[in-house]
Amino acid sequence: MPVAARRAIAGSPETGTARTGAIIRSPIPMPEKIVLAYSGGLDTSVAVHWLRAERGYDVVTLTVDVGNEPDLEAIVAKAQRIGAVATRTIDARELFVRYFVFPALQAGAVYQNQYPLATALARPLIAKLLVDIAREEGAVAVAHGCTGKGNDQVRFDVGVASLAPDLRIVAPAREWGMTRQQEEDYARRHGVPLPQGGSPFSIDQNLWGRSIEAGDLEDPWVEPPEAAFAWTKPVDATPPQPRDVEIEFERGVPVALDDQRLEGVDLIATLTRVAGEHGIGRIDHVEDRVVGIKSREVYEAPAAVVLLAAHAAVEAMVLSREQLALKQRLAQEYAELIYTGRWFSAHHQDIAAYVQSTQRFVSGLVRVRLHRGSFRVVGRRSPHSLYQPALATYGQGDTFDAGAAVGFIQIWGLPLRTQARQQLIGYTEEPLAIATPQVDEPPKLDAPLQGKAGVQA
Ligand code: ARG
Repeated sequence: MPVAARRAIAGSPETGTARTGAIIRSPIPMPEKIVLAYSGGLDTSVAVHWLRAERGYDVVTLTVDVGNEPDLEAIVAKAQRIGAVATRTIDARELFVRYFVFPALQAGAVYQNQYPLATALARPLIAKLLVDIAREEGAVAVAHGCTGKGNDQVRFDVGVASLAPDLRIVAPAREWGMTRQQEEDYARRHGVPLPQGGSPFSIDQNLWGRSIEAGDLEDPWVEPPEAAFAWTKPVDATPPQPRDVEIEFERGVPVALDDQRLEGVDLIATLTRVAGEHGIGRIDHVEDRVVGIKSREVYEAPAAVVLLAAHAAVEAMVLSREQLALKQRLAQEYAELIYTGRWFSAHHQDIAAYVQSTQRFVSGLVRVRLHRGSFRVVGRRSPHSLYQPALATYGQGDTFDAGAAVGFIQIWGLPLRTQARQQLIGYTEEPLAIATPQVDEPPKLDAPLQGKAGVQA
């Protein structure tokens, strides 16, 4: 709704004539302020204009650097040109690593065993910063550029609501119903600068990873074209020689790379470069979004995949079998809560307390070999290791009491022996067929042919 109409409905007369005949000017109502998460891309640029022209807000832009290498000067200039009343920028890389990336690494959070959650982890941080700036600016609302189909709208909306239930949330791209083409026309009509040389993909990136969607990737049968990748070399172009990196952890946090102590931001950036050079960290996944759609997602996350594996290698040395088992289950829950936008929740706080407790002995060194698009852990050690050579060895100095194994197995196998005697599984059924796939059975249903009987949303 245009501003004039909005104000008319609001019923604030801009001028009025008193009985005396003198003209009294009652103040023009101050436009309300909104803080928009601004990337400088087409959606959020059009949004700066739209929020003012169609909704009557004074727009404050907030651009957050989470390691996505934004050209802040250009972004600020653009926001001003489109009509933002104020432009704010925050270098949030350290906050991102410390409060979001490292906890997720410690938890081992990977969504659907594939996605290290880079985009998902940055959203609650941006939500928090939106709320902070909204308070500072005295804004009544915040805005983001997400569409109505993705996960990010959920994360922003729920994140903001969990921190500041009083703030209004506006998502222009969810409301305006414009196609990409219509947005470009809108931009041209209103002097909103169009981004130069746009990518054929939809991309979001930060220190922890790069998410690539749409364009040719929408066909899950089509291999991602090289143009989709920016951080990782194709295998053919990787060095022929393997490269070993040593990663040191202290209480579950990586603190050094090849003997060099590094702050989290630098450590991740360096490892991204090194592992990306060896073609590591490409992920190609058909993912289940929160809103119920399956979506083809491609990621590059060289540092994340290597760190997650290295961290797990230290944990395997220092955590007990039960700790590892519970932690693995919680890792899935942790990934779910990150993915679905429930970062600022009591549920998270509770799981995080357990995870933090598990990390107190997760210190040690891991050697990872990078070569030709893949990597593996080839060495690990920890001062708190539960791995005892004297117990594990098949050679000299074995202290394990093999005789005690007999009694242990006697008891361990007791219920199965009892059942075998009473129920005779081995005689009444074919033991070899206990788990055989039913390959000879005809399928119950014919799969609908693609494009003919496919279910439409
Ligand atoms: N599927 C990922 C997620 O939900 C990435 C979304 C990235 N957004 C984008 N514009 N490419 O976290």
